[in-house]
Amino acid sequence: MADKYIIQGKRALKGEVQISGSKNAALGIIAAAMVVDGPSVIENLPQIQDIKVLLEICQELGAEIDWINGNTIRLDPTTINTHQAISEKVSKIRGSYYLLGSFLGKFRKVSLLMPGGCDFGARPIDLHIKGFQALGGGNMSDENGVISIEANQLKGAGVFLDTVSVGATINIMLAAVKAEGVTVINNAAKEPHIVDVANFLNTMGADIRGAGTDVIKITGRPVLEANRSYTIIPDQIEAGTYMIMAAITHGDLTCTNLIPKHMEPLTAKLIEMGAMVQEGDDSIRVALLPNDHLKAVSFKTMPYPGFPTDLQPQTTTLLTAAQGTGRMIESVWENRFQYIEQLQAMGANIVTSGKLAVVQGSPLKGATVFARDLRAGAAMVTAGLAAEGETTVTNVYAIQRGYENFIEKLQAVGADIKVG
Ligand code: UD1
Repeated sequence: MADKYIIQGKRALKGEVQISGSKNAALGIIAAAMVVDGPSVIENLPQIQDIKVLLEICQELGAEIDWINGNTIRLDPTTINTHQAISEKVSKIRGSYYLLGSFLGKFRKVSLLMPGGCDFGARPIDLHIKGFQALGGGNMSDENGVISIEANQLKGAGVFLDTVSVGATINIMLAAVKAEGVTVINNAAKEPHIVDVANFLNTMGADIRGAGTDVIKITGRPVLEANRSYTIIPDQIEAGTYMIMAAITHGDLTCTNLIPKHMEPLTAKLIEMGAMVQEGDDSIRVALLPNDHLKAVSFKTMPYPGFPTDLQPQTTTLLTAAQGTGRMIESVWENRFQYIEQLQAMGANIVTSGKLAVVQGSPLKGATVFARDLRAGAAMVTAGLAAEGETTVTNVYAIQRGYENFIEKLQAVGADIKVG
């Protein structure tokens, strides 16, 4: 597998990029396909490392997975033969924690090796646990990194999330679809992938109302029939990354197969910065003329529909190409600025203080930089595309976790990027 990318910068990206299925929706939907009571067909699945690993875990647990084509699987969970997901692979990705809710719903008991994922500070799961406890999950233990939960009876209940959490909202939903009675999640997260997981489960016979608002009501069902097909939504973060790349390279890119509504937090800011943004029914074009300048603005990451934290590193990189002083406040994760020293190695003028990064626009120069996590890695490539000269990005495994056909898509729109 490729280990680094080599980029010659200053090429304007022009043409069309087709957006793949959403990574974070796919992780939730695969776990949801494990809780239903028959096979389901999942379409528009992105071919990326995180999904590959989660599917391998599902197979290890006994699920049968058939590839119908490159982006479609049939997942049959009726052959699952254990409630214990404790192999090394489980700790490699964050998304494996959805098996907690899924198996608690399915078997009323689960053991899971603590999940991994990108490192941007503490990533607690106390809210997930609080939700499971409200539903009757007890006999909880945490030994050698393995969390075990058992519920004699799984009963619907009210759950209030004191922090808006995507993971806790989906995980509680996964258990609640199989609980007796009604569960109400208050202060639920509203991200598009929460709606997508709920839509998948409803297609398979669940009764979930209010997904996409901050109150989700789930009426449990003893059996979820499945045996239907479902198409995953486009990846909002992948789309946002290419839109930012279009602006930073003074290019003219049309991202197709996306849902423009999901992109509003970014499109509003790109327009504020002076980029041309044109929305179609399922596409967005972003362009910036060679002599136009981007204006520095301020950003604050927030749960949806706020500005997504997963576009923060790419956007901070975009601010280096703007005229004036821009600000980025990271309010979701406590420590998501570690990649900034890599940008500084490329000449970026950025000063951080706690959750604030102040970016003074100044040209970037090619350097060797490290993809320290998935989105930080995408930011390094974004920087390399805009920089003078050659940039080498190492540890690109982190990027392959979340971007389908990354190199191919970039080359097709004029980027000078190759694997090294
Ligand atoms: C998901 C995304 C991740 C994104 C994040 C925020 C997946 C696989 N990952 O992560 O890419 O950056 O949403 O949009 O979908 N928190 C608690 N207790 C908990 C759970 C969370 O305090 O039990 C806090 C976290 O520390 C964080 C905030 O809540 O400050 C948001 O986290 P959450 O929305 O749960 O993120 P993930 O679901 O892990």
